[in-house]
Amino acid sequence: MKNTVATLTAMKRNGEKISQLTCYDYSTAKLIDAAGINMILVGDSLGMTMQGYKDTLPVTVEEMIVYGRSVVRGCKETFVVVDMPFMSYQVSIEEALRNAGRAVKEAGANAVKLEGGAELVPLISRLVDCGIPVMPHLGLLPQRIQTAGTYRITGRTDAEVEKLLSDARAVEAAGAFALVLECMPAEVGRRISKALTIPTIGIGSGIHCDGQVQVLYDVLGLFEEFTPKHSRRYAELGRLTREALKNYADDVRNGAFPGPENSF
Ligand code: KIV
Repeated sequence: MKNTVATLTAMKRNGEKISQLTCYDYSTAKLIDAAGINMILVGDSLGMTMQGYKDTLPVTVEEMIVYGRSVVRGCKETFVVVDMPFMSYQVSIEEALRNAGRAVKEAGANAVKLEGGAELVPLISRLVDCGIPVMPHLGLLPQRIQTAGTYRITGRTDAEVEKLLSDARAVEAAGAFALVLECMPAEVGRRISKALTIPTIGIGSGIHCDGQVQVLYDVLGLFEEFTPKHSRRYAELGRLTREALKNYADDVRNGAFPGPENSF
């Protein structure tokens, strides 16, 4: 059964946890879909995992559409959220509507994700009025790395917790259907999740969130430069891939590949 805004909302109501992974291509999307993962995020983290940039800032709308479209083609049941990249929704509501509309029309996204809280309320209302489901993103905001200076845990002070809670309530009231909570203490994740009727999807925000999202490359051991504390490796595909490729190179060098079974 296709995951929809309604089924995801019902999962929160029924206390069922929601799984989400990032994904950037068709073949992997098929695997994720077959594994029964509820949601995919075509995250702008692709700037780092797929494109080798040091942060997410250079990613463009065009690129999100190309990657998003490939992922959507691989999904029968999994709900696909496409990230709005840096400066694609900050200049004006009109420009943001146009770009989010492209994510839906050209990539086939089921929803879009935006980084920010109360300041996005007018935009979220307009998008929802137009029929575009919105998942905002609170806490550590990678698109604000230049002003923040570093990627750090938020919600350590009372003032930060109050701001996170009021932002969460504001985006819910504006019509957001779900909310990403990135890198905050588990107790803060719990308080926000309890305060809302929409599902919270945590990354580094503890067990009490209504769902969890992880970067696929961290989970599969494909991004080996560092492993974030909030991530768990479920496979060592980086190591396995290197071994397989080395075996292939050896076989070609030694004349062991192609064999008779590979020849016409
Ligand atoms: O771009 C991304 O992958 C994200 C997740 C880390 C939530 O925003």
